Amino acid sequence: MAILVTGGAGYIGSHTVVELQNAGYEVVVLDNLSNSSEKSLQRVEAITGKQVPFYKADILDRDALSEILKKEKIDSCIHFAGLKAVGESVAKPWEYYENNIAGTLTLVDVMRKAGVKNIIFSSSATVYGDPAFIPITEECPKGQCTNPYGWTKSMLEQILSDIQKADPEWNVVLLRYFNPIGAHKSGTIGENPNGIPNNLMPYITQVAVGKLKELNVFGNDYDTHDGTGVRDYIHVVDLARGHVKALKKIEDKSGLNIYNLGTGKGYSVLDIVKNFEEATGVTIPYVIRDRRPGDIATCYSDAGKAEAELGWKAEYGIKEMCADSWKWQSQNPNGYDD
Ligand code: NAD
Ligand code: UFG
Repeated sequence: MAILVTGGAGYIGSHTVVELQNAGYEVVVLDNLSNSSEKSLQRVEAITGKQVPFYKADILDRDALSEILKKEKIDSCIHFAGLKAVGESVAKPWEYYENNIAGTLTLVDVMRKAGVKNIIFSSSATVYGDPAFIPITEECPKGQCTNPYGWTKSMLEQILSDIQKADPEWNVVLLRYFNPIGAHKSGTIGENPNGIPNNLMPYITQVAVGKLKELNVFGNDYDTHDGTGVRDYIHVVDLARGHVKALKKIEDKSGLNIYNLGTGKGYSVLDIVKNFEEATGVTIPYVIRDRRPGDIATCYSDAGKAEAELGWKAEYGIKEMCADSWKWQSQNPNGYDD
């Protein structure tokens, strides 16, 4: 039996395919390559020494999905496929709701018709909005999202929970990621944003490699230790391993489960700059700018539930996250286009 990984050519998906294959799972990848390159999968094959069966297909394409489920022996799906650019989602809400929500509804419908009722879904700490308390446990109430992307995550959590409730044969794991950074130790796979990066770490690595002049620090008047925004950065390899551990809940047929995947530690923007400089020896020039609309001051997890129930805990520290992000960027200054 195999695991269908939607969005498996992307940043988190490709790292998860490595960890799944290393753990002995059979994997089938589906991706429309709208935000990724098939080269990532060739590099995964070089890392694991195993083939990655790949279908270039869209989760909105019912016929293609049915065909794959008919042909491959799939028993579970890890569902990464989705659009994820916060700013773009504000400009193109219809495209985000269509791709992420209609796409997931199509996928889930084809799955249930094929009798495949196990899914792990990529959610996000964004569902907590401006969190009611810190550190954020899974009990923290969901909040108001500030953009359509965030709402797609929040709504899909609700949709998948309702489907599981109505049909207890479903096993659903909602994984709420905090801020994934870093890359595989080989430096051959990593994050490959289109155009100018929105997220902090790819922006920093592009400054470091000389593609961008300086980092814009969005606000230094937040109520944090140095005034800049605090987040829970997690190494993408740790995050990927969290998915392998989460499969246990599927195998145990335990219904609906929700976990934060974070480290439980918060670092400010300036902490990240300092750690990056110390880890790599590269100086990052920066300027303080206005706050970015929609940003919150502080967001970090209580990751205790995943440790207690999945036996999963993030292992890599911030220096390794910075060093591994830099290894990927410096070896691949133009991502997979090199
Ligand atoms: P990514 O863009 O690298 O990967 C997503 C993949 O899905 C891409 O390869 C893309 O081509 C594919 N895809 C998009 N729409 C598709 C469709 N309709 N059909 C088939 N494939 C499609 O992003 P990522 O950082 O690896 O994120 C993976 C998942 O995790 C996403 O759902 C994202 O929203 C979620 N997530 C990411 C972060 C983050 O900071 N990176 C944080 C929280 C949650
Ligand atoms: N930041 C800068 N300059 C930049 C980019 C970011 O100062 O060029 C700051 C932000 O203001 C924030 C911190 O760095 O304080 C982190 O910002 P990111 O854009 O890297 O990450 P966010 O926490 O804003 O959002 C990310 C993902 C969301 C996801 C959320 C929680 O982009 O999709 O983490 O998982 F929902």
